Amino acid sequence: MSEVVRTENLWKVYPDGTRALRGVNITVKRGEFVGIMGPSGSGKSTLLHLIGGLDRPTKGEVVLFGRRLSLMDEDELAEFRKGKVAYIFQFYYLLEDFNVLENLLIVAEMAGIKRAEEKAKRILEFLRLSHRLKHKPNQLSGGEQQRVAIGRALILDPVLILADEPTGNLDMEEGIRIFEVFKNLNEAKGITFLVATHNLELKRFFNRVINLRDGEVV
Ligand SMILES: Nc1ncnc2c1ncn2[C@@H]1O[C@H](COP(=O)(O)OP(=O)(O)OP(=O)(O)O)[C@@H](O)[C@H]1O
Ligand SMILES: [Mg+2]
Repeated sequence: MSEVVRTENLWKVYPDGTRALRGVNITVKRGEFVGIMGPSGSGKSTLLHLIGGLDRPTKGEVVLFGRRLSLMDEDELAEFRKGKVAYIFQFYYLLEDFNVLENLLIVAEMAGIKRAEEKAKRILEFLRLSHRLKHKPNQLSGGEQQRVAIGRALILDPVLILADEPTGNLDMEEGIRIFEVFKNLNEAKGITFLVATHNLELKRFFNRVINLRDGEVV
């Protein structure tokens, strides 16, 4: 099935009354490299959270790989996501007490990935981190930390990667390198990407852009 994500009249109203999403309908097909763009506060993170099942909509539906998320409880959702969807955050969330290799291995172990060490090393080589396997996150540059976060997503063999401002903490040059890695994975492995950014200079990488303004697609 070529449709990976569909949202149907998606609304998110936060408890304080903020209407972060107001009737969003989007579709993403397998193999697309899609940007979600819009000013700060337009609802980009909220949309990615709902698509990734990290939060629930107030109204409307997220259909992921043909399954309606509203029909699943939290356990079913976690099981369903496994091996399909990976989330990359702006603030990496690496395990500070563990080195680069271990950061990948811990995730792999939780997901029951076989031959994880071999696989982790291969991924870290692809991400140009082979010389940093034994370093702790606080010994790495921002770009290197983001690449570890990408590695942690890749070891799960995701079909879909949701990335929220993945270059928000990086300078332009390093940001472009991260996008080149994404593009490479998109083209070589067919991984579908949905990437939120407000950086207009990165727009050229996307096959398609979904523009948000005040919680609506424009
Ligand atoms: N937990 C929350 N409670 C109340 N309001 C929230 C909450 N999270 C986000 N909002 C509000 O919802 C709106 C959309 O926020 P969101 O974080 O989705 O925007 P964004 O496009 O990701 O912005 P940025 O580019 O700054 O990351 C904003 O008005 C924000 O203040
Ligand atoms: Mg955001």
